[in-house]
Amino acid sequence: MTSVRAQSLEREGSVGDRPVMTLIDVEKHFPIKDGVLQKVVGHVKAVDGVSLEIRRGETLGLVGESGCGKTTLGRCISGITAPTGGGIYFRLSDVDRAALEDILATPGKERTPEQRKRMERIESRHLITALTGDAWRAYRRNCQVVFQDAFSSLNPRQLVKDIVGRPLRIHKEASGAELTERVVSLLESVGMGRQHLFRYPHQFSGGQRQRISIARALALDPEFIVLDEPTSALDVSVQAQILNLLHELQRDRGLTYLFISHDLGVVKLMSDRIAVMYLGEVVEQGTATELFERPRHPYTEALLAANPDLDADVDKEIEGLEGTVPDPANPPEGCRFHTRCPVATPICGWEVDDAVTWLSVETNLLDAMTAVERRSNFDATLAFADDGSAEAVGKAMTAGSVPPAMAPALESVSVDGSKVLLRFLPVPPVELEEVEPGHVTSCVLHTSRRREL
Ligand SMILES: Nc1ncnc2c1ncn2[C@@H]1O[C@H](COP(=O)(O)OP(=O)(O)OP(=O)(O)O)[C@@H](O)[C@H]1O
Ligand code: SF4
Ligand SMILES: [Mg+2]
Repeated sequence: MTSVRAQSLEREGSVGDRPVMTLIDVEKHFPIKDGVLQKVVGHVKAVDGVSLEIRRGETLGLVGESGCGKTTLGRCISGITAPTGGGIYFRLSDVDRAALEDILATPGKERTPEQRKRMERIESRHLITALTGDAWRAYRRNCQVVFQDAFSSLNPRQLVKDIVGRPLRIHKEASGAELTERVVSLLESVGMGRQHLFRYPHQFSGGQRQRISIARALALDPEFIVLDEPTSALDVSVQAQILNLLHELQRDRGLTYLFISHDLGVVKLMSDRIAVMYLGEVVEQGTATELFERPRHPYTEALLAANPDLDADVDKEIEGLEGTVPDPANPPEGCRFHTRCPVATPICGWEVDDAVTWLSVETNLLDAMTAVERRSNFDATLAFADDGSAEAVGKAMTAGSVPPAMAPALESVSVDGSKVLLRFLPVPPVELEEVEPGHVTSCVLHTSRRREL
């Protein structure tokens, strides 16, 4: 087992010199079950194809509205829950990453025996869901989590000495008097002390409880910590103290952070780089300075406009953004943000659902609709109770009353008795592309797809 000292030494070097966590196309889909037999009728796509890298000693901020998948991604990275697709790799070198990406780009059946062997070797050493024995234990030691709600994450019936000392006991790092001294030293590193050893969580303030959570997370001297809204439940002054503490600990211990928050002001203060999530996907990523000074994605712009505080309430509208976040079980085609984007274009992903939404918001004809027969998300027949309603819908759709960006995406609209046949031009999903060194966005206004406009 690597000693604490050896682990610290291993971390010497400069910030960002090697990746700690590498995510390739990570998915976490939760099944939706229905009926007595609990049949799976769909999936909540909480995380849907996220690729990113977190390098040694840096803080990657993760922002986005409530429900966009931040916690789920944090839980996958910290090994609390297994992803349903893609891979999360611990300490994957740049050379191995390049090799892996090459192999993954080759269809399974066409891979050479050498490629298969190399992939197996990489996965057994770095893929967190394939790690076993010492490699798995090393990963669990080195990757810790601090949650928003310190109260519920601390066992109310345990003394602080047992809460903070538990990881050391489980990993057989210390016992007896040595364990107590290690706990005291951990408490001191978070601004507490020996006098707190024999107290219960309820005897502390919110800020102190969060300090106890941080001390527990530090017990095994980890390399990487997922901080999931660590200060959201605290008063502003206490929040500043905890953020300072996290800064100091990072500097002194060479820690790497994934910092999850709604509060862009806090994320800006804490992060070297920021990833913006929307409906399970990363839509923009770059250095904190780049993202704040030159945001490219309209969603990032909207978040910045709502700065400094994004309320955790999912129903609260962000200024400048219309509508609510779509259902993650049935995310929109193309750019998932197109249903709310103030500058959406014809190639952003217009589909049958958008036409139905438009009918419900802008006309009184939805009441007459009896069915939507889909051939795909881009191609459907809308059935109406009578020929007159179908004719009125057909007319409205072809007379330019639909949103200007949607109109050119409508390939055809035809009326057949009481039915309206609708076809939108199919579009591929948007892809992240680099717009400046280290700054990626998926908005078609800035990627190579702008040529289609
Ligand atoms: N165990 C689960 N089963 C089913 N759906 C889930 C589960 N956990 C999360 N989800 C769903 O996955 C989506 C993402 O949830 P998640 O908690 O990761 O979002 P978040 O960005 O952390 O939100 P918040 O900012 O409110 O904490 C949501 O639609 C949520 O309802
Ligand atoms: S691709 Fe860009 S312009 Fe189009 S909907 Fe998405 S964010 Fe808006
Ligand atoms: Mg969350």
